[in-house]
Amino acid sequence: MQELTLKDWLDAQMRDFGLDADLVKLLTGVAAVSRDISRLVEAGALGGILGLHGTQNVQGEEQKELDVVSNEMMVKAVFDTGVVAACASEELDHSLPAPAADGVRRPYLICFDPLDGSSNIDINVSIGTIFSVLVNPRSDASAPTDEDFLQPGDRQLAAGYVIYGPQTQMVFTVGRGVNMFTLNPRTGEYILTNANVKVPESAKEFAINCSNMRHWEQPVKRYIAELLEGTTGVRGKDFNMRWVAAMVAEVHRILCRGGIFMYPRDNRDPSRPGKLRLMYEANPMSWLMEQAGGRATNGRTRILGLVPEKLHQRVAVFLGAREEVERVTAYHLEEDGGRC
Ligand code: AHG
Ligand code: MN
Ligand code: MN
Repeated sequence: MQELTLKDWLDAQMRDFGLDADLVKLLTGVAAVSRDISRLVEAGALGGILGLHGTQNVQGEEQKELDVVSNEMMVKAVFDTGVVAACASEELDHSLPAPAADGVRRPYLICFDPLDGSSNIDINVSIGTIFSVLVNPRSDASAPTDEDFLQPGDRQLAAGYVIYGPQTQMVFTVGRGVNMFTLNPRTGEYILTNANVKVPESAKEFAINCSNMRHWEQPVKRYIAELLEGTTGVRGKDFNMRWVAAMVAEVHRILCRGGIFMYPRDNRDPSRPGKLRLMYEANPMSWLMEQAGGRATNGRTRILGLVPEKLHQRVAVFLGAREEVERVTAYHLEEDGGRC
């Protein structure tokens, strides 16, 4: 079988669909740096990247060494492409404008979670990098600010992730379906291995951190209770449960074999509308799901329609199989309606 490399695929997208050459540069840059991060991950303790860095990020989370190192690598790589006006990251308090003050307007903004699933780093379990590309709304070469990033997910131009698991895979969309590329560790080349991925409409598996059950809102309790009842309950079928504690790994599993992933808001801190971040976790993953025929809501409304108010805004996330996301969303709306 003829192998299609990421480069060949991107060239074909430029030729056949007019994919922007600068966006191709950016995706190529992300692919290249992910290969370097993958090598570091592979080296583990031998690469000196395990353990804590001894600092906290703006969200008050302990930064691991690999969070910091991968963030620095991502920042450098995206600016080196020459097409990014500013980037925003889980590990940076504010967005960072491109260092070059050469009067050239750069067309893109990029948000990323350089290392998703940090708690898995030291135990050799799957982790990843998530990215979301937006247009630079500035018509001149001036430096973008945080406000320029506050665009709904519907405006993403490219989004995806790289999973560092038993294999390293880059999975992304430019708005024409979802494609998966597997890194050939011998050649360093990404090869197309799953084209136009589709999520089955109904699910047999669910992913949620059940240790938070007592804090959940009623509609989530109801939905999960029904799943747990299996064949003996209203659903009339058994479900299996998985929790990797890395959103990248959960989304990857769902894209490969179906299911639903949830990180609901809960009552521990009512001011916090969920754990995951809208701009560099929920938005890119929601777009991938929709592009693969699935759904993504915050329990009430489509995630991609939300207008962000803050760079590090958090959001509740329900994504995956259409039937399941619609059901748990309907339970939230029923509950809200009942309260009026
Ligand atoms: P990050 O490592 O980038 O902070 O993200 C971790 C997130 C997400 O990937 C995962 O789904 C979730 O946190 C795990 O949360 P629990 O600690 O509740 O398992
Ligand atoms: Mn994350
Ligand atoms: Mn992270």
